Amino acid sequence: MNMNLLEESDFIRLTTFIQKNYGINLTKKKQLIEARLNSTLQSMGFKNFNEYVNHILRKSDPKDIEIMLNKLTTNYTFFMRETSHFDFLKNTILPQMVKEKKNRVLNIWSAGCSTGQEPYTISIILKEFFKTQYPLWDIKILATDISQNALSQAKLGIYLKDSLKDVPESWLRRYFIKSPGKDEYQVSNELKSSVSYKIFNLMDPIIFRVPFDIIFCRNVMIYFNQETKENLVQKFYDATNTGGYLLIGHSETINRSVSKYKYIMPATYRKI
Ligand SMILES: C[S@@+](CC[C@H](N)C(=O)[O-])C[C@H]1O[C@@H](n2cnc3c(N)ncnc32)[C@H](O)[C@@H]1O
Repeated sequence: MNMNLLEESDFIRLTTFIQKNYGINLTKKKQLIEARLNSTLQSMGFKNFNEYVNHILRKSDPKDIEIMLNKLTTNYTFFMRETSHFDFLKNTILPQMVKEKKNRVLNIWSAGCSTGQEPYTISIILKEFFKTQYPLWDIKILATDISQNALSQAKLGIYLKDSLKDVPESWLRRYFIKSPGKDEYQVSNELKSSVSYKIFNLMDPIIFRVPFDIIFCRNVMIYFNQETKENLVQKFYDATNTGGYLLIGHSETINRSVSKYKYIMPATYRKI
């Protein structure tokens, strides 16, 4: 297969389009785009990137944009990633919610959930915390992503042992089913049914019905520029219940002079 190269003007047109519509900043990722999209443009019958970029920018076929996003998003994730958030969830947030939420309704959002390891981890932590009290609560976990491929994998819920390296053996037995003869595990139906998956572009207005008590948006905004990030954090704030939390990736920060969230500790913010 020949390797097509992106002309500078097409590179600028494509990265401007992607940043404006999907937030992702790829202005330093020319080689990555060439490598990830070369086979796509050839299989679609385009002779070069110029033809492909013209086609994408016309937005004539949403399916082709979906294919492009599947290729260009970075979906790396694993169970129990950044464990300190899950300790904080178990030891601080949930006990607070038990005290404060008299209606026993809990709405959680994993925004940029990728292939599902984050929302399933959240669900396990909740089930382990509430135990027999779990059915007495109305708990909803919404998980969204822009990549249709990632969401399909999340719904399927089959994971290699490697992705589960930090999951205790007892949880593997309780929440997963080992695939016979393979080094992979499928999440149980109980766990699967506790998470609702939806495709959602974080650049769009947040249209979900309820305000959230906890929003996880970890390792997503690292790909966004400052302005996009600040706008998104403001939208999250408006969609958070008073007393609710926003958790971001540990390598990320929120500009405290701009955001109304109160800083609690690294990567952890609260709406007071
Ligand atoms: C590296 S993964 C993070 C997964 C998980 N939150 C974690 O911390 O392990 C980043 C995810 O953000 C998603 N994403 C990027 N831009 C997005 C957007 N504009 N709207 C929704 N999801 C987006 C990507 O598709 C990808 O699955």
